Amino acid sequence: MLKGKNIILGITGGIAAYKSVTLLRGLVKAGAEVQVVITPAGREFITPVTLSALSGRPVICDFFTANTGEWHSHVDLGLWADAMVIAPATASTIGKMANGIADNMLVTTYLSAKAPVFVAPAMDLDMMAHPTTQRNIELLRSYNNHIIEPKEGELASHLVGKGRMEEPEKILEVLDKFFDQQSDLKGKRILITAGPTYERIDPVRFIGNFSTGKMGFAIADEAADRGADVTVVAGPVSIKPSNPSVKVIGVESARQMLDACNKLWPECDIAIMAAAVADYAPANPADKKIKREHQGVPTIELVKNPDIAATLGQSKREGQLLVGFALETDNETDHAIEKLTRKNLDMIVLNSLRNKGAGFGVDTNQVSVISKNEQRTDFELKSKRAVATDIIDCIAEAGK
Ligand code: C5P
Repeated sequence: MLKGKNIILGITGGIAAYKSVTLLRGLVKAGAEVQVVITPAGREFITPVTLSALSGRPVICDFFTANTGEWHSHVDLGLWADAMVIAPATASTIGKMANGIADNMLVTTYLSAKAPVFVAPAMDLDMMAHPTTQRNIELLRSYNNHIIEPKEGELASHLVGKGRMEEPEKILEVLDKFFDQQSDLKGKRILITAGPTYERIDPVRFIGNFSTGKMGFAIADEAADRGADVTVVAGPVSIKPSNPSVKVIGVESARQMLDACNKLWPECDIAIMAAAVADYAPANPADKKIKREHQGVPTIELVKNPDIAATLGQSKREGQLLVGFALETDNETDHAIEKLTRKNLDMIVLNSLRNKGAGFGVDTNQVSVISKNEQRTDFELKSKRAVATDIIDCIAEAGK
């Protein structure tokens, strides 16, 4: 999968820089074009001559070549790359990346990179465990960088703990898998609902819920990154997709969401219903603000909203895949399976509000995916973006 790919290999000043040579050789062997960008500290650990000989390109360290004044464009490099891999990534570089401290060519290139970025931390165990480092790594993860976790083992300090850079062969595997997955949804049209719906009581009030749309948008980004043509029908949310190819249709109410979905569904291969649709809407929303003074305590008569997932389920044709969500507080599995059947879904993603770190507003989620034949996969608590990867993996597998 790496054949013909343009890769920026970022090397920083850690003892694990010696492993970058093996990584570089592996990338070149796999047919990738590699541009090495090294930090000044990195140069102390490994010589640019070795790296340029193996990559067939001059190694970039400074903003300018001193004797000719030639400027190295981090912008052009950022656009050229299909991926950037920073291995080893020291605590210092991770901190600079997380905080935008662009005082060297490597961090400047990182900030200009449009391509996915892979970060393989390597440092002493206490530096790795320090809350500052952990916070910076989490920040990088939240900006959609791929963290290649370091391993436990003996470190350069002879201490034993977590901080050894992942082996070059494993990093190559991660990249290979990424490019393989990147295109596994090519040609698929995917509809995703996300966020809450607002049901108007009067022009200033509504019935709604705490959904932020984070899970739905994370799924949209993941699917688009893997080549799908994605449209999100979103209730009122304040977030945007990271992948610029994701189309967003903004709606307010469940009725509007249903209308938008009904239009898109016949042309789609997959629909993922991640919206928290309000179950009821006021029967007769007032066209003027309901006044407190004159009317005492108003009674709001409610009507049932349409079930969008079930409506799509009824018109599902051969070859279409419909995925729903179940957010439950009790008898989770039974309720999820009942919904799967009643709404004619092919797969349901169950998250229990009993799990800490799962549900509305938070950046993490813990899910189980149950398929039509009641096959169940339980996943660990992860960032919503990592959960999106698991969900899309299941969908891609089911669509094979
Ligand atoms: O029935 P319940 O609301 O628990 O079902 C959740 C699943 O159904 C979610 O996938 C949700 O997006 C979808 N749903 C819907 N329209 C509704 C209610 C739920 O599409 N009116």
